[in-house]
Amino acid sequence: MANSGATNITWHEQMVGRPAREALKGHKGAVLWFTGLSGAGKSTIANAVDYKLNHRGIHTYLLDGDNVRHGLNKNVGFSAADRAENIRRIGEVAKLMAEAGLVVSTAFISPYSVDRDNVRALLAPGEFIEIYVNASLATCEGRDPKGLYKKARAGEIKGFTGIDDPYEAPAHPELMLDSDGKGIEALADEVIAYLATHGIVGNV
Ligand code: ADX
Repeated sequence: MANSGATNITWHEQMVGRPAREALKGHKGAVLWFTGLSGAGKSTIANAVDYKLNHRGIHTYLLDGDNVRHGLNKNVGFSAADRAENIRRIGEVAKLMAEAGLVVSTAFISPYSVDRDNVRALLAPGEFIEIYVNASLATCEGRDPKGLYKKARAGEIKGFTGIDDPYEAPAHPELMLDSDGKGIEALADEVIAYLATHGIVGNV
């Protein structure tokens, strides 16, 4: 996106670099990008992962769709342009947190591949871990925890992901979680095993 407005700004090198921050924490910074339909279980799984990591002494943070839309992103809606801006801001915030040495989990539908790929491009290879929380529309609609699918089917919400707005499933996610078939505990453990195998955290 163009830099609108600000001129005469320079990038300052910081004396405390990322390796120093990571060394202090004893693990790497990374972004765990959970994507999937509303009701697929993104927030619940991300929460479980965050809890398990915290419990094992890993420094983490969790950015969650509905919560972030109450603050940082309260001025964006659900048009394609607004969703892109929603994801762009979250990507930039997650990047800063990863640079600070945190393992950041994000739980946003992030339905468009291009928006997710733009976030991937912000980060170094291996730092952006795309996690596709795969549950069928039928499962998500059956769960309907917020009653929003019902409203979307009734035409009370327009442009609802999976109903009258697309969800573009990741073609090559680092991890795919079978949220139709497995429970939260097992899926959270799959994420943690991935982090250990790929050297983000030790064998926690
Ligand atoms: S995203 O598409 O921009 O990534 P985000 O994850 O922040 O979406 O917000 C999704 C949540 O907003 C859903 O879980 C649901 O509770 C609510 N929501 C409200 N309107 C819509 C809509 N039109 N499409 C999808 N989710 C919606």
